[in-house]
Amino acid sequence: MAWNAKDYEQIKKEVLQALAHNRNYRRSPVLGLPASYLDPDVFPPDAPFLDDAPFARVFMENPNHIGCHTLVASESAFAGTHALERDLIRICAEEIMGAPEGGYDGYVASGGTEANLQAAWIYRNLFMEQYHSTSQQVGVLYSEDSHYSFYKAANVLQITPIQVAVDPVSRQMTTEAYANAIRLAQAEGVRHIIAIFNMGTTMFGSVDDIDMLLPVLKGSGMPYKVHIDGAFGGFVYPFTQPGNPLTFCNPEVGSITIDAHKMLQAPYGTGIFLARKGLMNYAHTDHAGYVQGGDSTLCGSRSGANLVAAWMILQHHGRVGWEQKLAVLLERTTRICKALDAHHIPYYRNPAMNLITMDAAALPAELAERFLLVPDVHDNASWYKIVVMDHVTDARADEFLTALDNTVAGIVS
Ligand SMILES: Cc1ncc(COP(=O)(O)O)c(C=O)c1O
Repeated sequence: MAWNAKDYEQIKKEVLQALAHNRNYRRSPVLGLPASYLDPDVFPPDAPFLDDAPFARVFMENPNHIGCHTLVASESAFAGTHALERDLIRICAEEIMGAPEGGYDGYVASGGTEANLQAAWIYRNLFMEQYHSTSQQVGVLYSEDSHYSFYKAANVLQITPIQVAVDPVSRQMTTEAYANAIRLAQAEGVRHIIAIFNMGTTMFGSVDDIDMLLPVLKGSGMPYKVHIDGAFGGFVYPFTQPGNPLTFCNPEVGSITIDAHKMLQAPYGTGIFLARKGLMNYAHTDHAGYVQGGDSTLCGSRSGANLVAAWMILQHHGRVGWEQKLAVLLERTTRICKALDAHHIPYYRNPAMNLITMDAAALPAELAERFLLVPDVHDNASWYKIVVMDHVTDARADEFLTALDNTVAGIVS
């Protein structure tokens, strides 16, 4: 199966067909589920626009996607939309992240935080089961530019956080800093490592150098597992840097987070977790008796509508359309960078990403506020970022650059 663009009528037909394969709370007897269609007084099911809005139709019918549908037979009542979720996971794992056919599992999580926690949970349990390790003997190793969800993961799972400093210019962990952090952690009793590599950090869009750092980790002799955080960059970097070593094409990579509610413009609640076959079992609970197929996910019940939105977006663009969209965004990012160069405003940008992180000292705070530039920290920012997404149009970019022309020249000279 390829990933080609489809027209809206075809996409709509496929979503409605999937929905027709679900048990419908109105048309068939459903007595045992603790759920229903959305409250009809607030969400009238006969609203005329619904005939042309398959996502809203799924949202109203409210299928539950509890469990992991690539793993085992799951709740048959919602088999139609479960099949769409499997196709979404297939596109992400196989077509985007290079997994071998059927060699993966995955599910639509609430977001990048949950997907990152799911990864850490799986690997912690794996080390505890296979090596009889304690949770504190498991370390989660990541750069200081990593998302705060890894601190959350360490706290929730009671594993040891190991933060590695980055070089302030390249935003890369150096081999020395990596080796030092590993050595210190080992001295403090860490015996197993969950290694996180970023495919686009939150603040900088920087991408970790797995090829340079993994030999250092191997040198420690500690067993390790690799998770890629592509929450932001997962729908960018594999297209702008094909052949990069952070996908399933690299046998070292065990799992990947990729958020559809960021670059893909799907609604919030559409994170995606992908893992090689065999790993989900480490998060399986034996106590989900009432769930057909059981549960190996962190969240439990979840909406079947979010994945339909992400699936529709991917079907609309196809690979070629998505690459074209990214090319426009990257070009626009480069144009903004050139204007910053002309103003001598220092910034960080990975050329394969659509994110620019500017030195806060060189930008008037008024400009940051007016254009809602996001700071690294809210009091006393060192950096402000621009994320060049769909709504950051050429006209908006020009508006910002004109404001810069008018206000910055005096400050930076
Ligand atoms: C790199 C990265 N990982 C994880 C997350 C967490 O994602 P969410 O806010 O969807 O939980 C973010 C959010 O910005 C992110 O940028």
